[in-house]
Amino acid sequence: METNYMTLTRFVLTEQKKHPEATGILSQLLNAILTSIKAVSASVRRAGLQDLFGVAGGSNVSGDEVKKLDVLSNDLFINMLKSSFTTVLLVSEENEKAIEVEVENQGKYIVCFDPLDGSSNIDCLVSIGSIFGIYRKVSDGPPSEKDAFQPGRNMVAAGYALYGSATMVVLSTGNGVNGFMLDPSIGEFILTEKNMTIKPRGKIYSLNEGYEQYWDEPTKAYVKSKKFPKEGKPYGARYIGSMVADVHRTICYGGIFMYPATSQSPKGKLRLLYECNPMAFIVEHAGGLATNGHMPILDIVPTAIHQRTPIFLGSKEDVQEIIDIYKNQ
Ligand code: AHG
Ligand code: MN
Ligand code: MN
Repeated sequence: METNYMTLTRFVLTEQKKHPEATGILSQLLNAILTSIKAVSASVRRAGLQDLFGVAGGSNVSGDEVKKLDVLSNDLFINMLKSSFTTVLLVSEENEKAIEVEVENQGKYIVCFDPLDGSSNIDCLVSIGSIFGIYRKVSDGPPSEKDAFQPGRNMVAAGYALYGSATMVVLSTGNGVNGFMLDPSIGEFILTEKNMTIKPRGKIYSLNEGYEQYWDEPTKAYVKSKKFPKEGKPYGARYIGSMVADVHRTICYGGIFMYPATSQSPKGKLRLLYECNPMAFIVEHAGGLATNGHMPILDIVPTAIHQRTPIFLGSKEDVQEIIDIYKNQ
């Protein structure tokens, strides 16, 4: 029996000790997120038994069907974050407007999150996730959605939870990337993947190939070069349709994940603030790249909380190839 667990909470506290000026507020905030993740994980594991599968009725701002688990996860995140006394503004995929935390509960952090990512995979038991990015409020005065219009590079911390064959949290506070597996018997996340890094080149490409006729020319040229290489073997294709799971695999095995612009959605599908930015932060800190084809995802200055962006992320050399194709087109 283990008697000296490196839990996620202990890990964050240990990191914090290295910065004597730190107040511990970020640890408090991360704890609130972890509680939400544990509760979502427990619900995901019991969803079929508790009648949580299926549609809740209504649709979110992006026009997607809202699932019961989406609603439940969103409520959990909002309630835990508001009551942690650490946040001032929340941006959720499921809420059209940014949520201002009541004055008496306010802290200094802004959290952008996708409470349940990969909703279309819920009912068939395929992996789903949650994504979050944390910023400091930099302006004075009462909060407004403009406070969330910061480039991803400003993030203090970002991470995701993957509800896969096990539940794992992958986190970066700007100093490396670490993975923590949930041990359901003690309800704690245990450090199992120290200092995660992405290999410089992989053998897998990942995107929704059904939309090929709608892709732009650089995406078409790139994918063709992976399927019919001038030399060597073609890349393998993998696409789960849950960004968290597809990105996690990309970090573990290398390769490239793409959600490009299409003629139907010229800005792509994935949302900058709570899908692309946190994932780009993790991938960059693991030694990979994340781009919209023309500039790093983390340098985009947002102008709307639900804005979308094309995204290409993963192994450095793989992503550099698509950047070069865009440059030379
Ligand atoms: P969400 O469930 O939060 O709306 O996000 C689903 C996203 C993302 O997880 C995935 O990468 C993408 O949708 C898949 O889209 P396609 O079905 O168009 O491939
Ligand atoms: Mn999503
Ligand atoms: Mn979602």
